[in-house]
Amino acid sequence: MKTKEELLNKAPEDLVILGIESSCDDTSASVLRGNFLLSNIIASQAVHESYGGVVPELASRAHEENVVPVVAEAIAKAGISFEDLDAIAYTRGPGLLGSLLVGVNYAKGLAMSLGIPMVDVNHLNAHILAHFIREEGEEYHAPEFPFLCLLVSGGNSQIILVRSSQEMEIIGQTIDDAAGEAFDKCAKVMGLGYPGGPLVNKLANQGNAEAFQFAKPNIKGYDYSFSGLKTSFLYKLRDELKENPNFIEENKADLCASLQKTVVDILMKKLLKASKDLGIKRVALAGGVSANTGLRDAFQDYKRRYGWDIFIPKFAYTTDNAAMVAMTGHFNLLAGRFAELDKAPYARVTMA
Ligand code: KG4
Repeated sequence: MKTKEELLNKAPEDLVILGIESSCDDTSASVLRGNFLLSNIIASQAVHESYGGVVPELASRAHEENVVPVVAEAIAKAGISFEDLDAIAYTRGPGLLGSLLVGVNYAKGLAMSLGIPMVDVNHLNAHILAHFIREEGEEYHAPEFPFLCLLVSGGNSQIILVRSSQEMEIIGQTIDDAAGEAFDKCAKVMGLGYPGGPLVNKLANQGNAEAFQFAKPNIKGYDYSFSGLKTSFLYKLRDELKENPNFIEENKADLCASLQKTVVDILMKKLLKASKDLGIKRVALAGGVSANTGLRDAFQDYKRRYGWDIFIPKFAYTTDNAAMVAMTGHFNLLAGRFAELDKAPYARVTMA
């Protein structure tokens, strides 16, 4: 039995937290001591590949099968026993409700059996706070507060002003599609697989980014829009295919490179505006689309051109993982934000 008061009196670097992530189609468990990573196990679900997207009911079932062995492996790899855990952090949302329920209920059962407190974590906050995870043998480069974070995934495109681990403000966001959605939808039109983002990225590396021009939005403030780009991409293909039925096949790499450049330009323009307006040069990247090499290169370019201090996640933290959940749980615990047993998961909600 460990009380909340005991944990708040413990040295932060000694806190051992188990993180559990089950918001979409990855079942993950991780153990952190302080902000130091002891283990991070991820079981991905291949079952969705043939459906061209995540099937919620299949995802819940796969989480149910995976959660016990994944947690056991995370504990074993960390070289600890369940009794060493101080608290359990779990993703409460946003995500697929059926998937979230598996992780939340497992966390509750384990916390009750061990007599330890729980902390709930917002999945989006966790992507941002992944930058604070420390790893054996790796240089530690975490942002000081305040910093800006570009959070780009299949469901979100946001610029967030991160004042502290507990104070995050969305200062700009997409008014229609997310950046990842734009990649995925355009990839689908070209007949590429799902998710299309990584495939577009791969082909883009062999193409000419100046080959085609697509619409860029003109929206006030720091907000984004990607629906116009998607439509202009679609119309371009439709028109060209009338003349040449092999147009896509013959121009795939150039189409991908031009699409990627347009998405990256749109993202970076608003981010630069926010950085200049707010006078903040510490700029981080997070979310699934942060794996995009064109976007990563643009960050390096802005570092050189504008003197930004940039924070680009390791590829392992661009996809869903429990290490970022445990990290956020650590911060939430220090802020005294514990979760009671009657808390239910939430499917939507952008920031907590
Ligand atoms: O954060 P995430 O794993 O989950 C969702 O929010 O769904 O992001 C997934 C998104 C997908 O749209 C995928 O196509 C995109 O991230 N993505 C990429 C790359 N890797 C993943 N987009 C462009 N380039 C990539 N290398």
